[in-house]
Amino acid sequence: MSGHESSYTPNSAFERWLDKRLPIIRFANDTAINFPTPKNLNYWYVFGGILAVCLVVQILTGVILAMHYEPSVTGAFASVERIMRDVPYGWLLRNIHANGASMFFFAVYIHMFRGLYYGSYKAPREVLWILGCVIFLLMIATAFLGYMLPWGQMSYHGANVITSLFGAIPLVGESLQTWLLGGPSIGNQTLQRFFSLHYLLPFVIAGVVILHIWALHVPGNNNPTGVEVQDVEKDTVPFHPYYTIKDGFAIAVFLILFAYFVFYAPNALGHADQSIEANPLVTPAHIVPEWYMLPFYAILRAITFDLGPIDAKLLGVIFMFAAIAILFVLPWLDTSKVKSMRYRPVARQFFLGFVAVCLMLGWCGAANPDDAVIKSLQGESSLVVSYTADGALATSTYKGGDEAFEAAKAFMESLPASAAPSLEAVPAPTFQFRHLSLILTFMYFGYFVMLFFIGLGEKTKPLPESIHKSVLRAHKPQTGTAVPAE
Ligand code: HEM
Repeated sequence: MSGHESSYTPNSAFERWLDKRLPIIRFANDTAINFPTPKNLNYWYVFGGILAVCLVVQILTGVILAMHYEPSVTGAFASVERIMRDVPYGWLLRNIHANGASMFFFAVYIHMFRGLYYGSYKAPREVLWILGCVIFLLMIATAFLGYMLPWGQMSYHGANVITSLFGAIPLVGESLQTWLLGGPSIGNQTLQRFFSLHYLLPFVIAGVVILHIWALHVPGNNNPTGVEVQDVEKDTVPFHPYYTIKDGFAIAVFLILFAYFVFYAPNALGHADQSIEANPLVTPAHIVPEWYMLPFYAILRAITFDLGPIDAKLLGVIFMFAAIAILFVLPWLDTSKVKSMRYRPVARQFFLGFVAVCLMLGWCGAANPDDAVIKSLQGESSLVVSYTADGALATSTYKGGDEAFEAAKAFMESLPASAAPSLEAVPAPTFQFRHLSLILTFMYFGYFVMLFFIGLGEKTKPLPESIHKSVLRAHKPQTGTAVPAE
C-alpha cells in the first residue's frame, strides 16, 4: 500500500516463510512503521488517526447495541430504554455511540478544512480527496439512518422531512420515496431497512477508508508548505516512532474531550424531543437535525423561490446536494499552482471567510427561518382586513396586540356580508434567518468560484525550496545568541 520502495527485511525464518506467502508484516511495516512522512506535519494532521479511532469505536459499540435493540415501531423506543436501564453498561455503550457520532463529525470537519487549507485535494492527491468525499457522504447517510432507530419524536419527524425530499424529484420522486420507505409512509418496514443499512454502511466506510489510506500512501502526505518531498533523507522521518507518538498523544487528548461528553454531558448535543416516543400525530414545533447536518439543512431551507419549472422544494434539494457535490470537483475548480494557503494571502482570507460562512449556516440551520436575525430589530406585526367596497378591493390595517385584534374584529363585523372581509396577520418586514441563509448559501458556492478566478491571477508568496529548508528556517538561531562551546 505504498508508492515507496519497501524497507522491510524479514528477521527470522518464520518471517521469511510468511513474507513469500502473505507479505502482511512487510505491508504493516511499509504502511505504519517505516513510511517516510514529511517532518513538518503539524497538529492539524492528527485527525486522520483520530477518525480511524472513531470508526472503530462506533463499530464496536454499535455491534453490541444491536444485540439488544429491537427494530420495530412498537419495540424500538422501549428497547433503547432497556439498554439505558437494564443492560449491564448499556448506558455507557449508548452514550459512547451517540456522542461518538458527534465526535466523529467534529473530527471529520477539521480533517476536511485542513485539506482545504493546505490544498491537499490538488494533484497528485485528487483520488485521495474524492475517496474522502465518498466517506463523508456515507457518514451522513449512516448518521441519518442511525438517528431514526431510537424512534423518538425527532427520529420520526426528521426522517419524514428528509425522505419527503426525494418526493420532490420530478417523475420518479413519488415511487422513489415509496421504495425508500418500503410503503406509503414510515412504518415497521422503514425501521427495519434503516437498521439493516445502518449496520451495513460503517463496514462500507471501513472499506473506503482502506482505499483512502492506500491513495494517501502512493503520493505520500502533503504537508503545511504544500511543497512535495524532494529528498527522502532530509525531508521525512519514519512514521514510527515520530508520528505514532504524536498521533497517540492527540488521540488521548481527544478521548478526554469525548469522555467529558459521555460522562458529564451525555445529552448536551442531542435534542430533548428524542426522549418522547415517536408520535405521527404530534409534529414537533421545530424539526431540526443533529448539529453536524445543520449547515446543509440551512441551505435546503434557504431556497424559498421557484426557478422556471423547478419549484422551491426541489431547488432546495438540488442546492443541498450541490453543496457536497462541488467538493468532488474541487481539485479541478481551484486553478492555483500553489497548494498551501500559507503562501496564498488573498485566497487565505477567502478561506477564513468560508469557515465563518459554514459556521453561520449551522447557526441558521438551528434557528426558525421566520425569526428575525437580530431580535431587537423585529418590527411590530400588523393585522390587515381585506374587503370589497364599491366593487373594488380595499384594506384596513391595525397595529398593536389584543386591542388591534378587537378593533379589526369590530370593523369586520360592521361590514355588510357582501364585502366578504378576510383577516390576515402580516409580519413586519425584517431581516429573517431565511434571508441570511440565502446570502450565506451564495457565499458558500461563491468561495469555489473565487478559487477558480483567484488562482488564475494571484500573487503568491515565495515558496520554501524544500520541506527541510522551511523547517530549518523556522528554527534558525538568531545571530549573536549562540553559546560558545566550552
Ligand atoms: C472515516 C473517515 C476518515 C478517515 C479514517 C481518514 C483517515 C485519514 C488518514 C489516517 C490520513 C493521513 C493522516 C492525516 O493526514 O490526517 C488522511 C489524510 C487525508 N484525508 Fe482522510 N480520512 C477520513 C475522511 C476524510 C474526508 C471526509 C476527507 C475529505 C473530504 C478526507 C481527506 C483527506 C486528505 C485530502 C488527506 C491528505 C492530507 C494531506 O496529506 O495533507 N479524509 N485521512
